Amino acid sequence: MPPPAAPAQPIGVFDSGVGGLSVLRALRARLPAETFIYVADSGHAPYGDQSPEFVEARAAAVSRFLMAHNAKAMVIACNTASVLVAASLRRLHPLPIVAMEPAIKPAAMVTKSKVMLVLATTSTVRSESVARLCRAHGDDVRIILQACPGLADQVELAEFSSTATRELLRQYILPGVAQGADTIVLGCTHYAFLAREIAETAGPAVFIVEPSDAIAEQLARVLLTLAPASSLSQAATTFYTSGSTALLSSFLTAINEPFEQVFELPADSA
Ligand code: DGL
Repeated sequence: MPPPAAPAQPIGVFDSGVGGLSVLRALRARLPAETFIYVADSGHAPYGDQSPEFVEARAAAVSRFLMAHNAKAMVIACNTASVLVAASLRRLHPLPIVAMEPAIKPAAMVTKSKVMLVLATTSTVRSESVARLCRAHGDDVRIILQACPGLADQVELAEFSSTATRELLRQYILPGVAQGADTIVLGCTHYAFLAREIAETAGPAVFIVEPSDAIAEQLARVLLTLAPASSLSQAATTFYTSGSTALLSSFLTAINEPFEQVFELPADSA
């Protein structure tokens, strides 16, 4: 069956893969009248181990696809793509683009031990954006930046609590907790699907900061400046992937995300 005709003015949401579905869930809950197009670039995940040039080329291709579907706004539901290429995407496209960054600022306000642990991809941890956040909020707080290679891949496989995933979590979390971290920032959207396992690994005294609701609020504010969703349009989400449609379908089923069908990202965008 061919992809359905695009709804009038959807909101485009993309990530390197399934991680951004954690953000989409919050967007749909906050903005139930809106229609969304979600692109999982799983054929090219993880972005976190790729060069900035590669991520920029992928984000440009995916965002052009969303523009061709008449998107009225875009959400980069990926910290890695946001910190690396949000500025260049904003130069490319004349529409509101909501981007993410690790929630270091809110975490600095809640930590009591004054030690926080930021879990993110290698590219995010090394980015200038994160260095800037650390300079701005690291005066009286110790910020431990922990790159987590392999962790997003486990989420792509829907391996939320396998032995391998739990071993990676111990390796990435326990040293920071041992140094006194009482707050953990989920600096990669994939990790939201591991929130329970992260909490179990870190222990009950550790608070987890996850930014999806804040991103949904930000998008709601941005939409106030645009035309409201047409009452004729049907609130719904269309899913595309550059990876396996079967894998994305089974992931959506596993997380109870309603969907009718997953479409292949067309070859010129994939
Ligand atoms: N979900 C992406 C993020 O928020 C990263 C996963 C990846 O490495 O592709 O950073």
